Amino acid sequence: MSLSKYKPKPKPTSKSDTKANPSSNTGMSESMVSPSSMKNVPTKEVNQQSDQTTQALSQDDTMVDDASFVHDAVLLQETVAAVLGLKSLPKQTDGNDQNSLQLSGIYVDATFGRGGHSRLLLRQLADDAQLIVFDKDPTAINVARKLASEDSRVHVIHDSFATLTGSLAALGITQVDGLMADLGISSPQIDDGSRGFSFMRDGAVDMRMDTSRGQSVAEWLEQVDDETLANVLYEFGEERHSRRIARAIKQMDSYESTLELAEVIKAAHPNWQRGKHPATQSFQAMRIFINNELGDVDDFLAQSIPILKPGGQLAVISFHSLEDRRIKQFLQRHSKGQYPEDENLPMPPKRPRYFSKPKRIGPSKAETSQNPRARSAWLRMATRTDTAYQQTDAS
Ligand SMILES: C[S@@+](CC[C@H](N)C(=O)[O-])C[C@H]1O[C@@H](n2cnc3c(N)ncnc32)[C@H](O)[C@@H]1O
Repeated sequence: MSLSKYKPKPKPTSKSDTKANPSSNTGMSESMVSPSSMKNVPTKEVNQQSDQTTQALSQDDTMVDDASFVHDAVLLQETVAAVLGLKSLPKQTDGNDQNSLQLSGIYVDATFGRGGHSRLLLRQLADDAQLIVFDKDPTAINVARKLASEDSRVHVIHDSFATLTGSLAALGITQVDGLMADLGISSPQIDDGSRGFSFMRDGAVDMRMDTSRGQSVAEWLEQVDDETLANVLYEFGEERHSRRIARAIKQMDSYESTLELAEVIKAAHPNWQRGKHPATQSFQAMRIFINNELGDVDDFLAQSIPILKPGGQLAVISFHSLEDRRIKQFLQRHSKGQYPEDENLPMPPKRPRYFSKPKRIGPSKAETSQNPRARSAWLRMATRTDTAYQQTDAS
């Protein structure tokens, strides 16, 4: 199995593992998610007829699953406004749709999760509009199917958003009006220890978003060598002590418990930081690697160029610098209209300008105080120009 098209670069050889960290922002992690963002759900909100799927929707876009975990959608109003090409959404009174814009068109939510962004977007769409939602996670897909059974505008694709063009083509769609993505993992995925994303709750060392296919982290750890593991910890977790942590992990007898794995990393980590579990970066690295998160983002961004109609909107939320940097560089490359300077040429050649008005916004103080998970979020948005797509130039 090809685990990742995006191969980790070997860690630069240095005398010690303590080289300066290339980035200060290590991304969304449990240490950034306070217990207050996990809410127990009032029983009356839970649909008693539900099987294992996530069912209930409260008034405020807070979604609930059977394990009573919720996901508070981040930058909710801002992202939905951006994908519709609006500065802001019309004010709503009492959560009803009186002021709905009733827009037609085809939109994609590439990361459905519990559907917070999708549901707010649907409120602004007309009956003839379509919303295609993707998720890798079977539990998220169950929630999306439930929504689709109630709303015929919704079409569900259980696959990576890296399959964007092919999956849409299978539905007969070649272009769309808006694409939104809210990258990374959801709160329910972290909060359910059995998924293996958590170093605070015990569970199998899995960490796959799509539990129906692929290799778990435990299976990968069984066969990976120390050096490759160290390179993954360094590149995807920006973990300065990657070598010694990799050695300690490889000395474990088995990989059956996330808490055991976290303890081994903790013991091997020489430099604890206040308020941050020493396993934070290593867990992030293994998760990003096993799910090919950066490779999928690159593929998705490249496909946004041919898929978006002229005037179509791209809106992507990221939670760590590894992702945000890629989105920023992609939008810079395709909005500047010039290749990088080449000193052998008098003038840098023009490259097509596929996007205009690239913009980045972060959460308000009010949002971060209400939802600590939003602290590291950035929303990047841009408008597709009318420049015709040339196949050689999408990267
Ligand atoms: C931050 S959550 C999205 C939350 C969602 N916006 C909401 O309001 O509920 C990210 C979701 O994206 C999914 N995901 C991450 N990478 C993906 C990929 N490459 N393809 C499809 N789904 C992906 C995860 O399984 C997770 O459910």
